[in-house]
Amino acid sequence: MRIEFGVTSHTPGSALVVFAAKDAVLSGAAQALDAALGGAVVNAVKTARFEGDAAQIVELLAPAGTDASRVLVVGTGKPGLADAAMFERIGGGIAARLLASGETKVTVDFGGVSDLAVDTPKAAAHLALGASLRAWRFDKYRTKLPEKQKPTLTEIAIANAGSAGQEWARLEPLVEAVGFTRSLVTEPANVIYPESFVERCRSLADLGVKIEVLDEKEMAQAGMGALLGVAQGSARPPRLLMMEWDGTNGKAKTSTVFVGKGVTFDTGGISIKPAAGMEDMKWDMGGAGAVAGAMKALALRRAKARVVGICGLVENMPDGNAQRPGDVVTTMSGQTVEVINTDAEGRLVLCDAITWVQKRFNPEVIVDLATLTGAIIISLGHEYAGLFSNSDELAKQLVTAGIATGDKLWRFPLGSAYDKMIDSPIADMKNVGPRDGGSITAAQFIGRFVNDGVKWAHLDIAGMAWSAKAGATWEKGATGYGVRLLDRFVEDTLEA
Ligand code: BES
Ligand code: MN
Ligand code: ZN
Repeated sequence: MRIEFGVTSHTPGSALVVFAAKDAVLSGAAQALDAALGGAVVNAVKTARFEGDAAQIVELLAPAGTDASRVLVVGTGKPGLADAAMFERIGGGIAARLLASGETKVTVDFGGVSDLAVDTPKAAAHLALGASLRAWRFDKYRTKLPEKQKPTLTEIAIANAGSAGQEWARLEPLVEAVGFTRSLVTEPANVIYPESFVERCRSLADLGVKIEVLDEKEMAQAGMGALLGVAQGSARPPRLLMMEWDGTNGKAKTSTVFVGKGVTFDTGGISIKPAAGMEDMKWDMGGAGAVAGAMKALALRRAKARVVGICGLVENMPDGNAQRPGDVVTTMSGQTVEVINTDAEGRLVLCDAITWVQKRFNPEVIVDLATLTGAIIISLGHEYAGLFSNSDELAKQLVTAGIATGDKLWRFPLGSAYDKMIDSPIADMKNVGPRDGGSITAAQFIGRFVNDGVKWAHLDIAGMAWSAKAGATWEKGATGYGVRLLDRFVEDTLEA
């Protein structure tokens, strides 16, 4: 989507957006248009029972008296309340409406818009972000897509919003970064597997990201028995991907570390999953996808921070060499794990990735992201990801970044009573506890690998990485959850 700010007039033959606040109070530009159209805007608004609620839309097709091919009157809601997030929703609504409408260009006129919760440049930039994110699609494998369903909208021009250039420069990288994550997550598992995931991320090197990759042999040397145990049933060899962005000219001594679960397909292994819905497990690398996208965002906007992203990449398959329930593996930390259920594989991947990154970078802060448990979906549905942390400060920072970006988080408890539930009679721990509190015991497992003094948070994003229906700023499918969250977290905590 091409975004242009500072246009002064609407392009004849294209779509036009004007605004109205609560109770259908027309903006200056909307009033002027209504006058030029002989009251057609007011008529349409009344006919549609439009009340100016936030993101509500009334559409006038080819109205006489204007050179616009169509006019959208878009609600901004109660005076003083429309904030950046609301303008993302509004932008998303406009994009959804016009994307395959036949229109190629829309001009959004902020003329005479007042009483917002943000200034108009900021509103306009967030509108552009919401529209761009909502317009993202993955049609690569659709060779027979009917002409009428193909996207036509390619350009959004914004008029009378002042110069939003600076605001947009901060937000624009997110469009590409979130798109990068969504592509990784959407691709099927015959296309994205550990090696090909790494290859896609190599493009980040052009942006100044340092890339390092460990293969099977190197991981064996490091002693990553848990990660390798998961990988051993697959014909696809595992990888550990390290991406480092340093925008501080080497000044930052410590790194903040993001770790992503990258199970490129999760059959469950020998503890195999039922057939129905198993195709969803192609997006069991959503945590790794978010980490890769966040690194891309940081590099694109040249963030003044030092951040390391780690992806533990494996495929969980059940072949003759696969690990068995009851197997005991030795993790890189030296701790041993009884693998009760081979479908609880994410934590086995994360624990070795976390041990490795602590040894290598000695970080103060670790945030891991993982589509870890079905139980988190039972708890939170698809509105919040679960947050688990040993630090109130870190938890608060993440919750705050979540509110600011729409990637929302809800904190869960941790504690020794939960921790005991994963003690094993034969090894240091088992990889599953009882069914009850399944997301919490999974977090406790990961916590056992975090060094004393390290601030750590675990985000269980199983309910958020993929959406069965379209949302305000995403088409159904991969959401890109986590990219904006991490990007904002870095800005708030490392660049402030
Ligand atoms: N990848 C799954 C979790 C998951 C489920 C993600 C549904 C997205 C949607 C994970 O590896 C898994 O299988 N977890 C098990 C753990 C259980 C065996 C303790 C689960 O949640 O059932
Ligand atoms: Mn699993
Ligand atoms: Zn999994």
